[in-house]
Amino acid sequence: MALQLGDTVPNFTQDSQLGSINLYDFAEGSWVVLFSHPADYTPVCTTELGEVAKLRPEWEKRNVKTIALSVDSAESHKGWIGDINETQCTLVDYPILADADKSVSDLYGMIHPNALNNLTVRSVFIIDPNKKLRLQITYPASTGRNFQEILRVIDSLQLTDNHQVATPVNWCDGDDCVVVPSIPTEEARAKFPKGVTEIKPYLRTTPQPNR
Ligand code: BEZ
Repeated sequence: MALQLGDTVPNFTQDSQLGSINLYDFAEGSWVVLFSHPADYTPVCTTELGEVAKLRPEWEKRNVKTIALSVDSAESHKGWIGDINETQCTLVDYPILADADKSVSDLYGMIHPNALNNLTVRSVFIIDPNKKLRLQITYPASTGRNFQEILRVIDSLQLTDNHQVATPVNWCDGDDCVVVPSIPTEEARAKFPKGVTEIKPYLRTTPQPNR
């Protein structure tokens, strides 16, 4: 059955260019971004993998580990990483799963045969430190992902977990947040000392609590 938000993600052990990776051991209390690629030596993927490497300080700031996946071998990944480092001016230092037997791709529903024959599409999964699936997006193979959006979602999820606020349309770090509906306004005024603006009884905003 397809994975759904809130599910505990299934564990796996799979080869990578850095050796064998067991997801649960690798995660070790961190958030994880797991993302798949159609194949090695493809242009869009080359730019994406380089970008994820360049964003290393942003992942670290948020306690996130990244893992890529494509259905080619670890040897193929090693050669391709040389090209990525050269063309994207970076150093790919995170694992790319070598899912040649497609076991992880099948487990996570990354193969959509009507979209791309027998190859993984561009899936992305955000997994929290409790191993729960918090976001899943599937892109077409021809569209590179926006990893700033993935970072933005992680910021929003961490704010909700830590401060009981939600984030409105197009929210970016530093913008006002929305008080979650389960908190009555009077309680919210006590909880959020920076102030609560009641636009409607169900629409209350507060400055971002952790800024
Ligand atoms: C790519 O990864 O570059 C790609 C893959 C499939 C179709 C188009 C581009």
